[in-house]
Amino acid sequence: MRILITGNMGYVGPILVRRLRDSYPEWELIGLDMGYFGNCLSSPGVLPECRVQRQHFADVRIFPAELLAGVDAVVYLAALSNDPLGHAFEDATLAVNYRGCIRAAKMAKEAGVRSFVFASSCSVYGCAEDGARTEESAVNPLTAYAKSKVWTERDLAPLADEDFNITCLRFATACGMSDRLRLDLVLNDFVAGALASNKISILSDGTPWRPLIHVKDMARAIDWAIQRETGGAFLMVNVGRDDWNYQVKDLAEAVATIIPGVDISINKHAQPDNRSYRVSFEKFKQLAPSFTPQIDLLAAIRELRDGLTAIGFHDENFRQSEFIRLNILMGLKKQGVLTDDLEWATELPLLKAASA
Ligand SMILES: NC(=O)c1ccc[n+]([C@@H]2O[C@H](COP(=O)([O-])OP(=O)(O)OC[C@H]3O[C@@H](n4cnc5c(N)ncnc54)[C@H](O)[C@@H]3O)[C@@H](O)[C@H]2O)c1
Repeated sequence: MRILITGNMGYVGPILVRRLRDSYPEWELIGLDMGYFGNCLSSPGVLPECRVQRQHFADVRIFPAELLAGVDAVVYLAALSNDPLGHAFEDATLAVNYRGCIRAAKMAKEAGVRSFVFASSCSVYGCAEDGARTEESAVNPLTAYAKSKVWTERDLAPLADEDFNITCLRFATACGMSDRLRLDLVLNDFVAGALASNKISILSDGTPWRPLIHVKDMARAIDWAIQRETGGAFLMVNVGRDDWNYQVKDLAEAVATIIPGVDISINKHAQPDNRSYRVSFEKFKQLAPSFTPQIDLLAAIRELRDGLTAIGFHDENFRQSEFIRLNILMGLKKQGVLTDDLEWATELPLLKAASA
């Protein structure tokens, strides 16, 4: 098997690559990434990209067709990966997450690829507190990020046929350690706050619902999707576990049981957070019983505590740090190395200075 993974140099990608490398040492893994977060390493030791056979630095918006030669499966992780990024870079979000994906899928089909896996999100449900949403429920995307996922799923569907399987995995909110950790994810943020300052500050009133999934369990689901034989040519499925639908305040309390002495502050004056959803994961359980998520909330918190401690993390101002995807892209743009469209600038300021 030859697998092409776009967006492999982010938070999920290195964990997926580890999983596939360990489970299928004979597979050829190819990475394709802009490298925005290349320097944002959070694990000592081996550079994660040493685990792929080939790493290409390229933009999915101008997908290089030649990379698809002989490829059996494409995993499309590349994205501007959350609501704040979608707000700050709306055009680029739609270009990368939506149009880039549809174009890549069409090219993959043309090239004879057999399986295409798209990383979608439960955020497509938007506001859904009155009962768990299933794949048959109406979607309610409230942000550019969520719209990019809905529109991609819609336009991927007609491309699927018996020779070209498409799987849209609607992931719950990720948590857990990675070689390129993100702290702009709710549980990761709470553990970081608890460790750095003994404080968890909840930005909402604590009531919104969020289903959670550990990043290693995301990788297991992708592993299943690459090779699945059930579910039909086009499959869209929620990925998580029914008993891991939590209210945000419950997450904070769980962190406080593992890291004692933590003060939890709730913003009682917060505007109601519209992004609140409970999700049913029954379909995934039926289709992939051996791949249902395994790592539970308390294990995820302990792992984050130990992982952050191992890298000497103690930054009280981590919400302003390079662990937050938006801060990195804003910083690179400010330095002039990225354009407003998030393309690498052709004239890099450093090179200009050196040649002056
Ligand atoms: N982390 C979560 O909670 C979560 C939940 C649901 C779905 N997802 C989806 O899973 C995928 C991976 O998420 P993540 O947490 O690893 O995000 P991330 O931001 O850490 O990684 C995204 C990667 O995509 C790359 N990328 C961005 N634009 C690109 C372009 N034009 N060309 C090539 N590469 C580009 C970035 O450099 C980065 O390495 C995303 O599609 C995301 O929407 C994530």
